[in-house]
Amino acid sequence: MADKKITIKDGQSDNEIDLPVLDSILGPDVVDIRSLEKNLGYLSHDPGFIATSSCESKITFIDGNEGKLWYRGYPIEELAKKSNFLETAYLLLNDKLPNKTELQSFSSDISNGYYVDESVKKIIKVFNKDSHPMAIMSACLSYLSAKYHNEINIQDIEYRYKSTINLISGVPIISAWILNFINGKDFTKPNKSLSIAGNFINMAFSNLNDDQKKLSSRAMDVIFLLHADHEQNASTSTVRLSGSSETSPYAAIAAGISTLWGPTHGGANEAVINMLEEIKNSDKDVEYYIDQAKDKENPFRLMGFGHRIYKNYDPRAKIIQEIAHEYLQKLDSSNPNKPLFDIAMELEKYALEDEYFVSRKLYPNVDFYSGIVLKAIGIPQCMYTVIFALARTVGWVAHWNEMIEDKNFRIGRPRQLYTGKDKTSYKDIEER
Ligand code: CMC
Repeated sequence: MADKKITIKDGQSDNEIDLPVLDSILGPDVVDIRSLEKNLGYLSHDPGFIATSSCESKITFIDGNEGKLWYRGYPIEELAKKSNFLETAYLLLNDKLPNKTELQSFSSDISNGYYVDESVKKIIKVFNKDSHPMAIMSACLSYLSAKYHNEINIQDIEYRYKSTINLISGVPIISAWILNFINGKDFTKPNKSLSIAGNFINMAFSNLNDDQKKLSSRAMDVIFLLHADHEQNASTSTVRLSGSSETSPYAAIAAGISTLWGPTHGGANEAVINMLEEIKNSDKDVEYYIDQAKDKENPFRLMGFGHRIYKNYDPRAKIIQEIAHEYLQKLDSSNPNKPLFDIAMELEKYALEDEYFVSRKLYPNVDFYSGIVLKAIGIPQCMYTVIFALARTVGWVAHWNEMIEDKNFRIGRPRQLYTGKDKTSYKDIEER
């Protein structure tokens, strides 16, 4: 079969060029426009990257219309049921599931990396207790970029492996210390015999009994797994762009953390709990808020409902919905969060049955349930995005490694549509 191409004709000059079409394994094929400027004198324009593929990737596949999310070809539902965060991290990094020996070796490298430089605690203590934890997290990563600055050698596979392990095992420790700090507690110690999620729960909630720790660790492990990657989202694209300048991976991850912090990216689950609190504290019932969300004249939207990419059920939401329901069933009526969770379940019921939500395919999204589960575990709201960043660090480093290994690797440098002034002569201040 002849190579696929798209022919573009310039209406002004009648010049015509062929642009090669690159085959995607899944999803739309991609037009390679790299020769556009050279051969036709034009650039392409796509603010917000609505129709632009920024790189070639083999890591994650999403089909929003079908509600599919696959890591390295494995459906997220199967991984959430049969795998765990550690094994999934190996999969994302290595393009294959590990055998027993590979998993043991990866696991011991990760747990040996639990011991983060003690100076990080000093960095955390510089902040006020009410500082946003994402700012603290970013500062800790900047500290690590200084600590490892002299070692930078991104083409060296051993350097990349060491940085990858340091980040995947170190970020959860840093996150637990930040939680200790904002809770006004002493810094707790990691335990090498525990999984990443188990160790995080143990460091964050040393007071829980073993059964509670087990329940929370399993829920946390699934939350980490579900958030580990989501292809070329804003923070992952930031890590790629930042890393493309050959900067330190710790600095590139700090850039990713800053991007994830925003309310339209990682901050949505916090917004869900704020909305539930607002409903709980008001004298209006759930139906009133549903009506507000449906009213076109009212800007109010139900937080945790709808998704830009998933126009079918977000597959992550289905998985975490089960965990949320399991958690909430175990709560007794004396739990102070019970009224909040009852509101969440009422909202869910309304939205799944109401014609407005059903016809627009506005299903509860992953943030609706992750906010609820994190609240039930006892994580303070301001830490939700930190939990997200902890999990997404795996995806970020997987993409960073993939980018550096790419034969087309070069610094990312977007172009622009300039709409400013043409050449203008400088006027002395008296003449302006
Ligand atoms: N509540 C009420 N109506 C809604 C909502 C909502 N949450 N979301 C969308 N709609 C309506 C919207 O008004 C529009 O109605 P109509 O067709 O009559 O004009 C229709 O549904 C389509 O909405 P849209 O704005 O075109 O959808 P979008 O793809 O631009 O927006 C969204 C997606 C996630 C920004 C939006 O659904 C929303 O604001 N949701 C609430 C915030 C939220 O939960 N964000 C987290 C998303 S998941 C992030 C992640 O994956 O990490």
